Amino acid sequence: MRPVLRDKADKGEVEPFISSPRKDWSFRLIKVVIFLIIFTAGVVLGLSASAHFTQYLSHTEVLFPSAPYMPNDDMDFVGIKNYIEPKWLQHNMTDHELFWRASMVPTKTQFPYKRVPRVAFLFLTRGDLPLAPLWERFFHGHKDHFSVYVHSPPDHKLNVSKTSPFYGRQIPSQGVQWGSISLLDAEKRLLANALLDFSNERFILLSESCIPIFNFPTVYQYLTSSKHSFVESFDEHTPRGRGRYRRQMAPQIKLYHWRKGSEWFELNRKLAVNIVADVTYYSIFMKHCKPSCYPDEHFMPTFINMFHGALNSNRTITWVDWSTRGPHPALFGRGDITVNFIQSIRDNGTVCTHNSKPTSVCFLFARKFAPSTLEALLNISSTVLKF
Ligand SMILES: *[C@@H]1O[C@H](CO)[C@@H](O)[C@H](O)[C@H]1NC(C)=O
Ligand SMILES: *[C@@H]1O[C@H](CO)[C@@H](O)[C@H](O)[C@H]1NC(C)=O
Ligand SMILES: *[C@@H]1O[C@H](CO)[C@@H](O)[C@H](O)[C@H]1NC(C)=O
Ligand SMILES: *[C@@H]1O[C@H](CO)[C@@H](O)[C@H](O)[C@H]1NC(C)=O
Ligand SMILES: *[C@@H]1O[C@H](CO)[C@@H](O)[C@H](O)[C@H]1NC(C)=O
Repeated sequence: MRPVLRDKADKGEVEPFISSPRKDWSFRLIKVVIFLIIFTAGVVLGLSASAHFTQYLSHTEVLFPSAPYMPNDDMDFVGIKNYIEPKWLQHNMTDHELFWRASMVPTKTQFPYKRVPRVAFLFLTRGDLPLAPLWERFFHGHKDHFSVYVHSPPDHKLNVSKTSPFYGRQIPSQGVQWGSISLLDAEKRLLANALLDFSNERFILLSESCIPIFNFPTVYQYLTSSKHSFVESFDEHTPRGRGRYRRQMAPQIKLYHWRKGSEWFELNRKLAVNIVADVTYYSIFMKHCKPSCYPDEHFMPTFINMFHGALNSNRTITWVDWSTRGPHPALFGRGDITVNFIQSIRDNGTVCTHNSKPTSVCFLFARKFAPSTLEALLNISSTVLKF
């Protein structure tokens, strides 16, 4: 039976399950060759496909990231940190853009972070800050409770050390002419830059000739606890008061609205926002308040009297000596600085009100002090000024 079967197979009859050893070998060889061909083809195809795929991935990873995208900088997120407390003061916004952004007020009154109210010290300078060492002593140790902003002539670079609170605090500035509307522009620019930091609650305007006459904790407590802002605002029936009113300012501004006061203001956040947001009254002043009308002496006193009188103390907290009766107040030099003189500014017997309660503290700052007073002031700062 077996040989027959073999013959049958030799004759080429299909016998699928039994084959000769030789035939078996060649069949296996073919299988190996076919396998190799398929395998090679597979490898080639696979490689080219994966190359395509990588290319494809690099295009689509941005849209459909495989792992969460981690930005290095807060700027890359739509987040709140940089929005509520900008790290850098430099920007390229025009005043128009800046004032718009600065006028934003959250409708939701609870802050989503622990907000420590800050006092913003706005320095409007004509150059350097010769009394900076006194201020540095004043600010020392109170980092989280204040911010500094400096508006100096454009291109002027403040020469301060990297550890100074004035370092890197210059805002984008523009030229200022005394007595013109550009002075009010600079004040608004300082306010607007400071408003971008939502922690700033009080805003005090100062110059390079101003000095603090109380220590920081006293100033901070006095300002942050006050229901009122400190913008001097009075009605003066003289050529230098009502005499500067222009009839063209009506009907929006009437003579009885007109007020005068010191340029050196202290504002709370609400008033600062309203001043930066205003266009109507600013435009009237720009058109009609020209020398001998001075916007810096009338705009804020009048505007606040018209709309926010109840929020104002109507007095200034920056002491100055007008007793010399000239167009400019007295400038104090090295020889003027004595313990008695500084004590008399801190308390000259006058009683003022703070939140409707009497206090002997009427002024927190004083001007005008020449650069030559620095050494003498530093000499008495710890004994008289208490910082
Ligand atoms: C500020 O810079 C941005 C980006 O460089 C530019 O698109 C914009 O026009 C600039 N704005 C002004 C007012 O120069
Ligand atoms: C900057 O201040 C330092 C130290 O007060 C002084 O040595 C230096 O000359 C000043 N530089 C300029 C350019 O005024
Ligand atoms: C300040 O003046 C306004 C009127 O502009 C008045 O309403 C307000 O009561 C005054 N403030 C104080 C503390 O007297
Ligand atoms: C105290 O200072 C105020 C403001 O400068 C001034 O009006 C007042 O006359 C002074 N009082 C005395 C007693 O010197
Ligand atoms: C500093 O104070 C001392 C003693 O109080 C005094 O002798 C010295 O002249 C003062 N220096 C200056 C620059 O005022």
